[in-house]
Amino acid sequence: MFEKNVYVSRREALMEIVSDGVVLLPANEEVGMNYAGNPYHFRQDSNFLYYFGIDRPGMVGLIDVNAGESWILGQDPSLEDVVWMGEQPSVVSLAEATGATHWGCLDQVKELLAKAQSQGRKVHYLPPYRAATMLALHQWCNVPLSRVVEGASEELIRAVVAQRSCKGPEEIREIERAVDITAAMHLAVMRAARPGMKEVQLAGIARGIAIAAEGEVAYPVILTVQGHILHNHYHGNELRAGQMVLGDFGAETKRHYAGDITRTFPVSGQFTSPQRDIYQIVLGAQLQAIQQIKPGVPYRDIHLLAATHLAEGLKALGLMRGDVAEAVAAGAHALFFPHGLGHMLGLDVHDMEGLGENYVGYDDEVQRSEQFGTAYLRLGKRLKAGYVLTVEPGIYFIPALIAQWRVEKRHADFINYSEVAKWQSFTGIRIEDNVLVTEEGHRVLGEPLPKQIEEIEAIRKEALES
Ligand code: GLY
Ligand code: MN
Repeated sequence: MFEKNVYVSRREALMEIVSDGVVLLPANEEVGMNYAGNPYHFRQDSNFLYYFGIDRPGMVGLIDVNAGESWILGQDPSLEDVVWMGEQPSVVSLAEATGATHWGCLDQVKELLAKAQSQGRKVHYLPPYRAATMLALHQWCNVPLSRVVEGASEELIRAVVAQRSCKGPEEIREIERAVDITAAMHLAVMRAARPGMKEVQLAGIARGIAIAAEGEVAYPVILTVQGHILHNHYHGNELRAGQMVLGDFGAETKRHYAGDITRTFPVSGQFTSPQRDIYQIVLGAQLQAIQQIKPGVPYRDIHLLAATHLAEGLKALGLMRGDVAEAVAAGAHALFFPHGLGHMLGLDVHDMEGLGENYVGYDDEVQRSEQFGTAYLRLGKRLKAGYVLTVEPGIYFIPALIAQWRVEKRHADFINYSEVAKWQSFTGIRIEDNVLVTEEGHRVLGEPLPKQIEEIEAIRKEALES
């Protein structure tokens, strides 16, 4: 947890934005993996963490906006709990740690909410994403189960998004810690990789570092020689000389802030010539995009600038043709870059995605595109100081997508399909860093992790010779 004042101030700020009613923030529950007593790794709900910071399952936070009170409700550990799991803090000590004015047991939740509802006051809750929370909301708030999700409070969603989007100094320090651990994971993987190894051995090294740093991975590790499969969680391939490893993984710190970095490196000491060409285009797009980051600039424009840089490079290689601006406006680049340039980062790797991507990444001014590729951009709106986001362009050769577009002759004016056919087995390259928007512009978070071709090759060469 941070100091209690952090949570007190966050709740006070929320009470300023939400005009009336009671805000209900349930913690997550343990979830059984194959039976109840053998649970998955426990991950607290990010909104509960943001406003209360308590990393324990089965708690409930309530903020009574009219009374200016905050409540922590939970069950004190039983003697049996202590025998099996050791001493646990009491509910009252947790309430004290988070600066809550009131505390109680879980039986009181329904009572407190019923009282507010009988006074004609609204109970605000956020969209649930776990079945147990849906059931609890159904029972506590008297909402039919089928209406629980749609009953989430838009006023609360907007308030939480506004607050969580601009990171406080304590959060920036914690994200930077996550980024530094993430960089150590990437360096270890780059140094450990050898032809003949399996991807899973490297994925294990990455995850081990995150755990040893008292956290976990922030999302399932992507570590693959098939980098064109964007969220590839399969780790069964063997590394062969001539291939590239795309590693997209990040640490979550003890306080649950995420890092999210991607690097692509050659299994042998050097990139091949086509690999160098594509790598240099992706790196150029990433560096140029980072340079544009400052308050007031719509991230959609930076996404399109990166897409233009990628399309120019692909045209120079004979893979695209025609007017680059027209090609990007038509969406032809999305054959090679079918995802967005980045997303917000914080307590969640795709920060606040559970609240609804359009609330987080778009507004009345910048609306989500419906065009294939740009439609996947998670963050399009104007940037503000305090946002933390990822910059992650890539170029991929996805055989199924190429085959489909080729048959349809889609964007045939802009795509040289006969040349693309020669690159079918290239796989993919992505490069990703985490950037803070500052009043003056931007700052790439963490100690620099090598990404120039010469730096990556030097690391690989040294590793292979050792
Ligand atoms: N790190 C995976 C993603 O950004 O989607
Ligand atoms: Mn990312």
